[in-house]
Amino acid sequence: MNIAYNQSLLGYNTFHIDEMASEVSIIEDEQQLFECLQYINKNQKPLFIIGGGSNILLTHRVEGLTIVNKIKGIEVIQETDEFVDIKSMSGENWHACVRWCVEKNYGGLENLSLIPGTVGAAPIQNIGAYGVELQEVCLSVEAIHIHTLQKRIFQHHECAFGYRDSVFKQQEKGNYFILSVTMRLQKNPTFNIAYGDIQKILALDFNNILSIKNISDAIIKIRKSKLPNPDEIGNAGSFFKNPVIANAQAESLKNQYPNMPMYAFATETKIPAAWLIEQCGWKGYRNGNYGVHTQQALVLVNYANAHGHDIVDLSTSIITSVQQRFNIQLEREVNIW
Ligand code: EPU
Repeated sequence: MNIAYNQSLLGYNTFHIDEMASEVSIIEDEQQLFECLQYINKNQKPLFIIGGGSNILLTHRVEGLTIVNKIKGIEVIQETDEFVDIKSMSGENWHACVRWCVEKNYGGLENLSLIPGTVGAAPIQNIGAYGVELQEVCLSVEAIHIHTLQKRIFQHHECAFGYRDSVFKQQEKGNYFILSVTMRLQKNPTFNIAYGDIQKILALDFNNILSIKNISDAIIKIRKSKLPNPDEIGNAGSFFKNPVIANAQAESLKNQYPNMPMYAFATETKIPAAWLIEQCGWKGYRNGNYGVHTQQALVLVNYANAHGHDIVDLSTSIITSVQQRFNIQLEREVNIW
């Protein structure tokens, strides 16, 4: 097993925060993973797992062992005339996995194009975009318990998927290393193009021709126009979840703020956090090295060399102002470490 000591994690998190890790091991296969887990158990060290580093905000030095997951591989495990089941190893780049499917004309992931991060991180927060969530295609998740080293397959119903939520963020938080994700893709998919600008882009750029590739390309275009490219500006996508409130509160807010966008969400109402944040004057706010993205108020950005705690403080100020103005409590989506 390879360990690098006192390494900066700058290149391993999309927020581009320069925090150190005391020990870093880059793993490429299951054997190396086992060695790392045996090492932390034997030496009673804390474990920090990094996939694409696209949903974390580092605020201090990381002690213990940091594993950077580069376990790759995608294979078809079952195929019929209707569907294909694929198993992707967790260290695969998520978008590379989406495009692998798009190129083979397997449908189901196209709306989730260009989401940063790895396949292994996808089920943890049940990634979602443009009307589709991972849970719609995910059959099962293969995971290894970090202390007992026992393998477990979490079937779909055991994953407790919810809006940006799963068993891996709740009861089993920190207990498992996700090794692979198995997904069912369709050969003749039903397209999901109701959300936002998808139809507009399909009409403008793709002559209204519906295909897996055209939808993927349209989503890529929309995301590029709204969301900052982490290779250019440090960020971790949506910093907050969209709050879900009781219908009664939503009704009284609608009377006060007739323009407030609202969506039915199960038996409650979901409000776009970006709208609330923008109304409080934060969109495009900048304080030196960090701020709120100019095109999407839900995204906090590190322009250069910001400290994680500055961004946490900014998020606290945003939470406070939204709370004071709308009496709605925003919840962070990004993991603060
Ligand atoms: N809006 C504003 N100001 C803004 C941006 C948006 O008022 O600056 C309002 C508009 O009313 C707009 C609505 O918010 O119609 C929704 O905006 P958008 O379609 O951009 O989506 P979102 O709810 O802000 C969610 C996900 C994104 C995902 C998009 C598209 C969460 C926390 N975020 O954002 O996911 O890409 O929908 O499906 O659910 C991520 O999780 O990192 C992420 C980027």
